[in-house]
Amino acid sequence: MRILFIGDIFGRPGRTIVRDKLKDLVRDHRIDLVLANGENAAAGFGITPALAEDLFDLGIDVLTTGNHVWDKREIIDYFASADGNAHSPARRVLRPANYAKDLQGRVFMASNDDPFRTADELLSKITEKIIFVDLHAEATSEKVAMGWYLDGRVTALIGTHTHVPTADERVLPGGTAYMTDVGMTGPYEGVIGVKKELIIGRFLNNMPVRFEPATGDARLCAVVIDADESSGKARSIERVMLT
Ligand SMILES: [Fe+2]
Ligand SMILES: [Fe+2]
Repeated sequence: MRILFIGDIFGRPGRTIVRDKLKDLVRDHRIDLVLANGENAAAGFGITPALAEDLFDLGIDVLTTGNHVWDKREIIDYFASADGNAHSPARRVLRPANYAKDLQGRVFMASNDDPFRTADELLSKITEKIIFVDLHAEATSEKVAMGWYLDGRVTALIGTHTHVPTADERVLPGGTAYMTDVGMTGPYEGVIGVKKELIIGRFLNNMPVRFEPATGDARLCAVVIDADESSGKARSIERVMLT
């Protein structure tokens, strides 16, 4: 099985480059399954049901998210609409596994459960061979540690969230494809997606600013993972950056 995982799709520039490049990417790399992180699809902040379904129409099979998952309120009802309906498209939008299970009140607090123990708990229940983990985290050390922790237990563990691609893709000895951060799919003429003048200004004077998405130098960052379906182990991982 050949899996394409696209890094954080940021605003219109990210969505546009996915629209322009995805078909050829899928054909050229003989991709069977397309995953993407969509937490920044709505102008950098969250994702709406309509945008999620636009991305599904472009050929993405499953969307992961991250800390921005709740930025657009509509997504809460969307998740609720999937309850008990196995065929709802909302089932194809995933939220972080270690967020508090109670949707009301607690989700806006950044008190996540331990991702290591959450991974153990989930893996004790999963019987599928092919297991893909999007680890949405800031610290490279945490991501590297989790890569080693899950080596041989998952097909791939790929980091997201920093919006800066790393150059450390490899298949770990136990057969887990690993990369610390796949990078952003969006405008690189900015600061991790936001207009650079706004961010530089904030560093200079410490004043709060309203973030606006950058526009220039759109790139699509992704990885292609080739996995053995019978063992669930990765054979190879290849880093992709398209402009
Ligand atoms: Fe992001
Ligand atoms: Fe994030």
